[in-house]
Amino acid sequence: MSTATPNATTVRTRVAIVGAGPAGLILSHLLAVAGIDSVVIDQRSREDIEQTIRAGILEQGTVDLLTEIDPHTRVHTVGDRHDGIELRFQGAGHRIDFRELVGRSVWLYPQHEVLKDMLALRLRTGQDLRFGVTASRVEGINTETPRVIATDADGAELIIDADFVVGADGSRSVVRPAIAGTSRDGYFREYPFAWFGILCDAPASADELIYSNSPDGFALISQRSPDVQRMYFQCDPDIDPNAMSEAEIWETLQVRVPGTTLKEGKILQRDVLRFRSFVARELRHGRAALVGDAAHTVPPTGAKGMNLAIADVVLLARALDTLLNENDTRLIGTYADDALKRIWKAQHFSWWMTNMLHSLPEHNEFDRQRQLGELRSVTDSEAGRTYLAEAYTGWPI
Ligand code: PHB
Repeated sequence: MSTATPNATTVRTRVAIVGAGPAGLILSHLLAVAGIDSVVIDQRSREDIEQTIRAGILEQGTVDLLTEIDPHTRVHTVGDRHDGIELRFQGAGHRIDFRELVGRSVWLYPQHEVLKDMLALRLRTGQDLRFGVTASRVEGINTETPRVIATDADGAELIIDADFVVGADGSRSVVRPAIAGTSRDGYFREYPFAWFGILCDAPASADELIYSNSPDGFALISQRSPDVQRMYFQCDPDIDPNAMSEAEIWETLQVRVPGTTLKEGKILQRDVLRFRSFVARELRHGRAALVGDAAHTVPPTGAKGMNLAIADVVLLARALDTLLNENDTRLIGTYADDALKRIWKAQHFSWWMTNMLHSLPEHNEFDRQRQLGELRSVTDSEAGRTYLAEAYTGWPI
């Protein structure tokens, strides 16, 4: 069954991790703490990984874990603790006070900062971490010696022989077909809209995030630093991000956040984020498992993506510790079911926030009024606000 070419290089490790995003890197750390070595590969360069702009909200449990990993984590100095968010509709803001409702917070700390920290930490502690290495397939997951076949930056074949293979390689996972049979086998929902995201040179328009429902569509006002802001507005998924002038972008954003005036500035970057919900049908098979975006995708409205990936990894690290150190298969046997409980709660929350806040092409006046009724049910009631606060700040892992 081996398909190695004669000049292939073979390395041997206990866990082969495909993908050096937050999930793959944190997993390699937790495994190292348990005395299990791993090789992490990623097709991107270190610079690409560190510069990709992604979401920015860390749940309380994620921050607790990052603090456990490194007590001096920059989350507490560079990051910004947020004790609430604002839901805005019909021109008025309604604060959801996380601290008061559930005694928890979230932190605004962009994913690429988490990546910079974790890459530096893993490299400092001697992790075998290889950039520019593209996995092509996984073999032998029904044996005790699965392997990853990859191509390194120079085009030479690299084979990683392991006791276990983990796909932390994002929504276009190469590991997923080995586990699920096909790369698309799972549960899907597409949404008929996307987010137009901008990064701009401007002072903050608010201290906390504003999730705004308006008759013209949704907008989210987020921040990055005292002088750089991140904002999004609901748009057509097929829009060309370069087709709008800066003036048109600002006009769109201002109309979407009625009752407040956004501080404008030079637009530094623009992108379009597709919206979809996905859960792979199988998260583990034999000696291979999926974590993070390889296992599931959520729309960004609930700010759950990276947090969910990290929660998967905590469960999988425990399961691999008992499997590889004690030869006990119980936790790896329940990994998928254990992870799926949280994944489906996060799927529901992300879908719910999305539907409550966006306007859909098929909405009529009934739907519009019903949506405002739903927003009022949340903001007028302590039970409603508490549900949102509990889900947004994250369930205990
Ligand atoms: C962001 O700051 O990029 C961000 C924040 C909250 C979200 C999504 C994105 O729900």
